[in-house]
Amino acid sequence: MEVYLASVWVHLVAVMLWLGGMLFLTVVLVPVLRGVDSRLRAHLVDAAGVRFRTVGWICLGLLVLTGAVNVVYRGYSLRSPLLAAKLVLVGVILVLSFLHDFVVGPRATEAMKMGREEGERLRRVSSAIGRVNMVLGLVVVALGVMLVRGY
Ligand code: HEM
Repeated sequence: MEVYLASVWVHLVAVMLWLGGMLFLTVVLVPVLRGVDSRLRAHLVDAAGVRFRTVGWICLGLLVLTGAVNVVYRGYSLRSPLLAAKLVLVGVILVLSFLHDFVVGPRATEAMKMGREEGERLRRVSSAIGRVNMVLGLVVVALGVMLVRGY
């Protein structure tokens, strides 16, 4: 019982940090930085992004680990439609996060620093991937909440 409770607690704290962090960046940091000199803004967004990348992957790792503990402890069937939908979306989130953090994002930063033309396009693609991920995260939270309440 204690292991299960600890696992749900870690699951929820990881959700708060991962999703709350993304919401904070989008809803607070980015709008605040709009009034700041563009080079300083690029530096701050880059530094916050790199820092959040580490935090985000630790959270995603913890979510998969504690999620598996919760599944086993509660004896959920992987065939349950809610859990299956949740797992598919988590898979999509992992792929999108990888693309955002290790492929498109770093290329965009590099191109912007070099003043290359594709920089702005890559930045927009990277930002779109981040937003889609955030929306998927909100949907996954809804599925998790429904799952616990037996829908
Ligand atoms: C982005 C990743 C994830 C997010 C945002 C997320 C979010 C949540 C939320 C908000 C809850 C509801 C807790 C409550 O209302 O008490 C929950 C529960 C749950 N999650 Fe996740 N989750 C994620 C990944 C996973 C993964 C990968 C698994 C399985 C491997 C999983 C399995 C579960 C299970 C089984 C529960 C129910 C726990 C219980 O019945 O006590 N989750 N999740």
